[in-house]
Amino acid sequence: MKSIKNICCIGAGYVGGPTMSVIAHKCPHIQVNVVDINQHKIDLWNDKDLSKLPVFEPGLQEIIAETRGRNLFFSTKVDQAIDQADMIFISVNTPTKTYGKGKGQAADLKYIELCARDIARVATSDKIVVEKSTLPVRTAQTLQSILHNTGSDVHFEILSNPEFLAEGTAIDDLLQADRVLIGGNDTPTGQKAKTLLSEIYENWIPKERILQTNLWSSELSKLVANAFLAQRVSSINAISALCEKTEANVDEVAKAVGLDSRIGSKFLKASVGFGGSCFQKDILNLVYISRSLGLNEVADYWEQVIIMNDYQKSRFANTIISEMFNTVSGKKIVIYGWAFKKDTNDTRESPAIYVADALLEEQAELVIYDPKVPAAAIYRDLDALGTRSPEDNRRLVTVSEDPVKITTGAHAIAVLTEWDEFRTYDWTDIFSRMQRPAFVFDGRRLLVGHNLEKMGFTYYKLGES
Ligand code: UDX
Ligand code: UDX
Repeated sequence: MKSIKNICCIGAGYVGGPTMSVIAHKCPHIQVNVVDINQHKIDLWNDKDLSKLPVFEPGLQEIIAETRGRNLFFSTKVDQAIDQADMIFISVNTPTKTYGKGKGQAADLKYIELCARDIARVATSDKIVVEKSTLPVRTAQTLQSILHNTGSDVHFEILSNPEFLAEGTAIDDLLQADRVLIGGNDTPTGQKAKTLLSEIYENWIPKERILQTNLWSSELSKLVANAFLAQRVSSINAISALCEKTEANVDEVAKAVGLDSRIGSKFLKASVGFGGSCFQKDILNLVYISRSLGLNEVADYWEQVIIMNDYQKSRFANTIISEMFNTVSGKKIVIYGWAFKKDTNDTRESPAIYVADALLEEQAELVIYDPKVPAAAIYRDLDALGTRSPEDNRRLVTVSEDPVKITTGAHAIAVLTEWDEFRTYDWTDIFSRMQRPAFVFDGRRLLVGHNLEKMGFTYYKLGES
């Protein structure tokens, strides 16, 4: 193989879709086939109306408009795409196991294994197989043993190329990556495969930002990067609780601390808790691996990052209840934001789910608005918790597309995602519609408190007394 001419990516989700779009955009000489077993999702990727793409990311529509049908193709023809490809990216989801050994902690690798078996069955020529999904350390070994025991003459070379994009800024993150990490075997074929993958990224990433490591370092680095990031959020969130009990302001503390160049200012925004598909899952993986290797202190240390995050979510819900005179039963509470952060339609592990669930347990009536998340996704998230029946969720929760109208008669508004548009509403109008006292609980420190207080709101800002 002299250079890569045909790529296949299995999994057209939040990672596979944007990543392959950017590769197709920057490498017009490479044909990129993105395949998925979900026909509906593929239909949406192929929809003429680009607002229907299954993933919302700023800048994605423009890139799809340019590349789709040129050198970027979406289909469900998995076998055909595998057969044609020089290089196969695996970007399927790896949820936390919900059954059996490692339940609640270990990653469920069944989709990865299915992909490996598909590849082994179909391939008739040598392939480079790239792990893009976040995986527990040593998954490459599993892939290797499945692929190397097929009995055919085909040679498979496994690489690990973890994704560091953050949702909401995925396209920028891909275009201007801080670094690209490529892990592979230290054999001549491993080295060659790393070079071939590096050459793809060199079309737009400066070579000095492309790191090559062994397989395990690469797999572990992804988990560690996410664990460090999540740890910063839990650290500042721990301090936010302390600020609320003192006269300190968590943003002032974060700024004072972050200006120390050894610490740095990013990722110190106090919030109602971190969410997303990766942080919790990756830390749980780290905890699981550490514990299974007998490193209990290491496991406990990282587990605390998650315990702190759970505490922050329930602490916020408890504040709402206690400020509202210890009862929210039968009270209408408006929730602004359901996505786990702004500029994405992804709700996986969103703190909003857990805050809403706690309020529903206290028999509150919720009306939810999110600019990008449809009602079906909100009900799906609540039903998945299994706390109450789907019928009860539909009885107690309304989802609306009109953020202002829904505040009529409400006792409180809880801001759970930092969508910019929440700032631009006519808050005087909203105040006039609400019950008195009109509470606003700002879990993202988004709104200007003294303005709201002047209008008459009772305003609680997370991280301030
Ligand atoms: C990412 C990371 O890749 C993953 O490591 C992490 O665990 C979750 O986040 P993401 O792209 O966000 O995955 O997942 P998702 O949006 O669920 O997309 C995965 C896609 O793979 C789905 O569209 C699913 O239909 C598809 N899939 C899954 C297959 O095509 N084949 C399978 O066997 C399984
Ligand atoms: C993360 C990593 O940033 C990315 O590199 C990796 O590839 C996947 O996991 P993502 O989960 O998409 O990306 O979003 P991120 O911006 O990291 O935010 C995660 C959560 O932390 C969000 O709920 C966000 O609101 C929260 N957060 C982030 C804070 O509460 N405070 C902060 O200062 C930063």
